[in-house]
Amino acid sequence: MTRHLITSAIPYINGIKHLGNLIGSQLPADLFARYQRARGNEVLFLCATDEHGTPAELAAAKAGKPVDEYCAEMHAVQARIAEGFRLSFDHFGRSSSPQNHALTQHFAGRLQEAGLIKEVSEKQVYSNTDGRFLPDRYIEGTCPNCAYDKARGDQCENCTKQLDPTDLVEPRSAISGSTDLEVRETKHLFLRQSELKDDLNAWIDSKKDWPILTTSIAKKWLHDGDGLRDRGITRDLHWGIPVKNGTKDWPGMEGKVFYVWFDAPIEYIACAGEWAAANGLSDADWESWWRTDKGAHDVQYTQFMGKDNVPFHTLSFPATILGSGEPWKMVDHLKSFNYLNYDGGQFSTSQGRGIFMDQALELLPPDYWRWWLLSHAPESSDSEFTWENFQQSVNKDLADVLGNFVSRVTKFCRSKFDETVPAGGAYGDVENALIADLQKRLGQYQEHMDAIEVRKAAAELRAIWTAGNEYLQTVAPWSTFKEDPEQAAAQIRLALNLVAFYATLSAPFIPDASATLLETMNATDAAWPTDVAASLGQLPVGHAFTVPEVSFAKISDEQREDWQERFAGQRA
Ligand code: MF3
Ligand code: ZN
Repeated sequence: MTRHLITSAIPYINGIKHLGNLIGSQLPADLFARYQRARGNEVLFLCATDEHGTPAELAAAKAGKPVDEYCAEMHAVQARIAEGFRLSFDHFGRSSSPQNHALTQHFAGRLQEAGLIKEVSEKQVYSNTDGRFLPDRYIEGTCPNCAYDKARGDQCENCTKQLDPTDLVEPRSAISGSTDLEVRETKHLFLRQSELKDDLNAWIDSKKDWPILTTSIAKKWLHDGDGLRDRGITRDLHWGIPVKNGTKDWPGMEGKVFYVWFDAPIEYIACAGEWAAANGLSDADWESWWRTDKGAHDVQYTQFMGKDNVPFHTLSFPATILGSGEPWKMVDHLKSFNYLNYDGGQFSTSQGRGIFMDQALELLPPDYWRWWLLSHAPESSDSEFTWENFQQSVNKDLADVLGNFVSRVTKFCRSKFDETVPAGGAYGDVENALIADLQKRLGQYQEHMDAIEVRKAAAELRAIWTAGNEYLQTVAPWSTFKEDPEQAAAQIRLALNLVAFYATLSAPFIPDASATLLETMNATDAAWPTDVAASLGQLPVGHAFTVPEVSFAKISDEQREDWQERFAGQRA
């Protein structure tokens, strides 16, 4: 048994996420967590809301609410939607938790002791119109690296480069749009990341199984020199974690908070503490996942995120951990994703373009979205959501292939025998060939799931479903029944067992449909298959079941056109 620590990039608190965000981290992380649990491994799957920094302040101001109140409300909203998509977090925490305050201040103290912090009198952009400093997202302008004209003060969305507000060309205030800006002096803490370059380089080089997307982004910013430039880890904001040196005050830093990108990844660790506290567990329990000196030496840690998050997870956060000199668990496998586009453009939260998670759940059950998103995950390149493609692939895969198989088999059995697995006949060459084929495919499916090759795993699962349909076409029990009812019984026995087999294998992708199928087949205790032949004898002769209600209704052309139109504009 392996112990799997799994984290998804923690979504910003500012509003409901769109489907592009979902497939970029939370959903594939859930797929992997469910799969590892199903394989009998121990899993701690963590996610949280990212509550500090300018995105939170700006969104709260827009909503006309105090920022702490806004965050508490939005956390509850995001938690409910996550449940709606069946995201099986062991804990959905908050980066504003007391645990994260303490841990973030602890890390800053350790870095200071290690001589990795310097105090810098920094030049910051001050807006005369707004009467305040403009850190990070309070400022927008043109990217000095790629010339994208909507780059933010902390990062360019287009080329993923991390920026400082003063880097922007033709900067403007994101609050007022004002260009009446000046540069003023203010004191901040800087993390001397460059000191850790060799350590980081060696660590990244030791990762042989990272996706190319991950390694190429990490190497690019590492060797660019600029990626490791010493970075400010404090900000002139009210909302955030107060700057402290461990539990002590930090002279000169009164009234300042840590930069959101400093405290957010630390929440991965703090979240385990929140999980322990919420479940009446001890510190030793969560530390056994995070401290290599306290049991985490054998933990396999996998992170999930969109490509824009890679520099923070391969450089900044590891710099924090390495710099602390403490034995924290570091990431083993880092799975990153490209972007999902929406109907010829980008999904965009700021522009309200695309489908948002709450809206998706109002239209269709979570399995539909999960299946489409995972089977089209933007792994090797960006991918695109179109309503036509969504309709086609859901109707074909879920309704025609899986749903149809289930309903034909169970209904035929009910009408010719009854709602129990029928006796008679025996498996012959066709059945043995099918079993051998499925055994091979099961191995491939597991390989892809182990390697987190999401699209390949989905394709293999689809092929496994198809094999059942082809079997039914070939042996045609409805014809066999006329001449040889005993043989038809054997064919249906196999097919009924396939329904339970499919439900088990499909659970990580479509958990609701799988649960319904397992319940109606009276097979909720079905184990993950190893030997396919044995697994296809799990439902013995005489085993009772009931015919499941429609598993997947098709999306009609009318629905599709209606939705297409409704989602063509911007979200109100
Ligand atoms: N909130 C960030 C985003 O949505 C991700 C933060 S992941 C972190 O891009 F944990 F590293 F902070
Ligand atoms: Zn850029």
